[in-house]
Amino acid sequence: MKGKSVKTFFDTHAHYSAYNKNQEYYLPIIDYFSNDFSKEIRVLDIGCGDGSFLKGLKAANLRGDFLGVDISFNLLRKAKTNVSDQKGIHFVVADAFNPPFRNTEKFNLIHIDSVLHHLIDDNRKKSNRLSKDLLTILRSKLSQNGILIVEEMYYNSRILPHLTSSIIFYSLKIINRLQLDLTFFRNDLKPGLEVNFFSEDQLVNILNELGSVMTMQRNPSKLSKLEKVMFLRERGHITYFVKI
Ligand SMILES: C[S@@+](CC[C@H](N)C(=O)[O-])C[C@H]1O[C@@H](n2cnc3c(N)ncnc32)[C@H](O)[C@@H]1O
Repeated sequence: MKGKSVKTFFDTHAHYSAYNKNQEYYLPIIDYFSNDFSKEIRVLDIGCGDGSFLKGLKAANLRGDFLGVDISFNLLRKAKTNVSDQKGIHFVVADAFNPPFRNTEKFNLIHIDSVLHHLIDDNRKKSNRLSKDLLTILRSKLSQNGILIVEEMYYNSRILPHLTSSIIFYSLKIINRLQLDLTFFRNDLKPGLEVNFFSEDQLVNILNELGSVMTMQRNPSKLSKLEKVMFLRERGHITYFVKI
């Protein structure tokens, strides 16, 4: 969704509990990179939601300066409450494309979870471009030996992999244009939602242009009947590490 509509969507649905992850979820991720950094680190979490990731870092005793950026004022309000007992975590309301820091500023670790599929333009090609552009900006913000952690929804299809994304992308555009409320049909079809999902190979191809990519964890979800009809073989949440 373009800046204003994605902001409105997340400000309206900030109370949605799916944006809260428990700290155990992050342990394998933190385990993977904790040996790479010996002292205090600078961390940037883009689209940080309720701050669960940064809170998880603190709980794992990582030290340093942690910054969460999100376009949604209401989610950041939740984030501030969520980490109110922690020092060294700051939040700023901003669009990831206009980050609130100087050009020269660098981070050891940049994390972006479930944000790319919310970057929506008029068509899929332009939306894919937005994701590539944002990832390139983030890469340029990494310090030497820095790590980019990308978490996303992924799917693998039995046939015609990219057709599934296009069906979902354009169906949601039509539903919103017609101002239909289909939450009775699927609770996650919240009014105003638009998404641009990546198939696994598509996201890996984008990330390969940035550095060396390692798939860290894959959490498949149970497929619904509708998803099976759309020839999905697997879908879920995936985590990549990109080292530059
Ligand atoms: C699905 S939520 C994920 C939140 C969190 N990263 C997590 O994994 O729980 C997507 C988040 O991205 C934020 N977001 C979407 N587009 C953004 C943008 N252009 N700039 C900054 N934040 C954005 C939303 O406000 C929302 O908090």
